[in-house]
Amino acid sequence: MLSTNEKILIIGAGGQIGVELTENLSKIYGAANVIASDLKASEGLKDAEFEQLDALDKNALFDIVKKHGITQVYHLAALLSATGEQNPMFAWKLNMESLFHVLDLAKEKHIKQIYWPSSIAVFGPTTPAINTPQNTVMEPSTIYGISKQAGERWCEWYFKKHGVDTRSLRYPGLIGWKSAPGGGTTDYAVHIFHEALKNGRYESFLSEHTTLPMMHMEDAIRATIEIMQAPAEKIKIRGSYNLSGLSFSPKQIADEIKTHIPDFTITYKPDFRQAIADSWPQSINDEAAQKDWGWKVKYDLPKLVENMLVNLKQQIPA
Ligand code: NAD
Ligand code: SER
Repeated sequence: MLSTNEKILIIGAGGQIGVELTENLSKIYGAANVIASDLKASEGLKDAEFEQLDALDKNALFDIVKKHGITQVYHLAALLSATGEQNPMFAWKLNMESLFHVLDLAKEKHIKQIYWPSSIAVFGPTTPAINTPQNTVMEPSTIYGISKQAGERWCEWYFKKHGVDTRSLRYPGLIGWKSAPGGGTTDYAVHIFHEALKNGRYESFLSEHTTLPMMHMEDAIRATIEIMQAPAEKIKIRGSYNLSGLSFSPKQIADEIKTHIPDFTITYKPDFRQAIADSWPQSINDEAAQKDWGWKVKYDLPKLVENMLVNLKQQIPA
């Protein structure tokens, strides 16, 4: 266990990333130093004290920060790309107002450091789709992407104007076996494993050759903790860093699954999420993250597929 004076609050801890992040931060900093919060308690959260919190309630957030002497906030609560398009005004409200509450608490010196995730959704149809650079055309076409792009600018502004120590990563689609995804366009790449093991087939809501940037959850959690632990002077980008794992299409991941489950079949029935996926890059250039704070990815496609199948097999009854 790392001996520091940090006291950590995770907002949105019951979600796909939060469950794994809570587990990992508790191992590193000690369970007594990590507070998990969400709208309601979830089964996956057993490694930290839990506080019920609506991230839109600034007073309740302040009370929890004071009660526990919080120094760092990982703010994960948001509506993602698919659910955001179904409820655009609420997505904007949740994604922006909750971020302001956290930024303001740091500006007022109640907390020292903030982690807030951005996304590949900040890019849009006019962005170069292959090896997308850190700095490029950004015209997102989803409310989710617009809120993430605005959030990046606000994080940078609070850093420059008020010295708030904000850190952020533009996650690609995240794939893990410990928790379920919560309404994104890349969720198919998690569902496919569950369906392959349960039913031997999967109907993809994205078309055969839709290539998107993706990452194993273990890599994403490691990147999150590494950027938060990096010395402040190494963090040159206070908007958000590009982060690259691997890229694949539904057909490519299905072919890799078939090397383990030869009878697995996939069919394609694109829905409204296809247009969202079509607006996003296919691969990401993360040289800035590599150079500034030493980021290095671990999982490629064969390793990711093997890891998912081995671990999920133990959870899903045969
Ligand atoms: P998720 O939907 O799985 O989890 C979000 C959590 O936030 C849920 O547990 C939900 O109950 C909670 N929440 C919602 N409204 C809340 C509120 N008002 N107050 C408190 N909690 C609330 O999402 P996730 O995949 O874990 O994503 C976390 C963050 O990472 C989000 O900001 C998302 O945009 C970003 N991100 C995720 C991915 C991915 O592939 N999972 C990729 C890029 C960026
Ligand atoms: N995985 C996320 C989504 O599809 C990307 O931010 O919404």
